[in-house]
Amino acid sequence: MTDWQSLKSECFACNKCPLGQTRTNLVFGVGNESAEVMFIGEGPGEQEDLQGEPFVGRSGQLLDKFLDAIDLDRRKNVYIGNIVKCRPPKNRDPLPEEQDACIPWLKAQTRLIRPKIIVCLGRVAATKLIGPDFKVTRQHGQFIEKNGFYMMGTFHPSALLRNPAQKPDAFEDFIALREKIIEVCDRTY
Ligand code: URA
Repeated sequence: MTDWQSLKSECFACNKCPLGQTRTNLVFGVGNESAEVMFIGEGPGEQEDLQGEPFVGRSGQLLDKFLDAIDLDRRKNVYIGNIVKCRPPKNRDPLPEEQDACIPWLKAQTRLIRPKIIVCLGRVAATKLIGPDFKVTRQHGQFIEKNGFYMMGTFHPSALLRNPAQKPDAFEDFIALREKIIEVCDRTY
C-alpha cells in the first residue's frame, strides 16, 4: 500500500484526464488524515481551483457552518475531498470518464484514512459512491453500510444556496450524522 508522500507526489503530477490541462491547482483534499468522518463533494469550483483547497467559496462557507453546528472542523476532526480533483470548465458536472480517471486517487486516500463514515455531498458524489439510482431528495440522511463504511448522502451546499428551503432538511441530516458519530466513532468528539 502506498503512503501519503508517494500518493501526493503522484497525484499532484496527474494528467490522466483533460481537466489536468486547465487546472490552476489540483485540489487534493483537506483535513485530518486519520479522520473517522469523510465528506466528498463533486469537484473544485473557481475559488477551489485558485486556492487549492476544497469548499472555500460560498458553498464552503455554508458547509463550514453546518460542520460547526455539530462540532466538526475541517482542520481538526474530518477530511474533505471531491470526486474529481481538477475544476471542470464553467463548473459543469464532471464527465463519467473524468470521474473514473480520478476516483482511484480518492480510493487511495480512503484506504489511508480508513474513515468509519462517508458523507456524500450532492448527487454526483452520492450516485458515484452509494448507488447510481440514489435520489438526494428522497434518500438524504439515510445511512447505509457499504464496503465497510457507513455512508450517507445529503444536499450539496451549492444546492442549498440555490434553494434555501431545503436547509432545515439538510440540518436534520447533520443531526443524524452527529448521532451516528456518537454511535460508531470514538476519536471524533
Ligand atoms: N463544490 C464541490 O463539490 N466541491 C468543492 O470543493 C467546492 C464546491
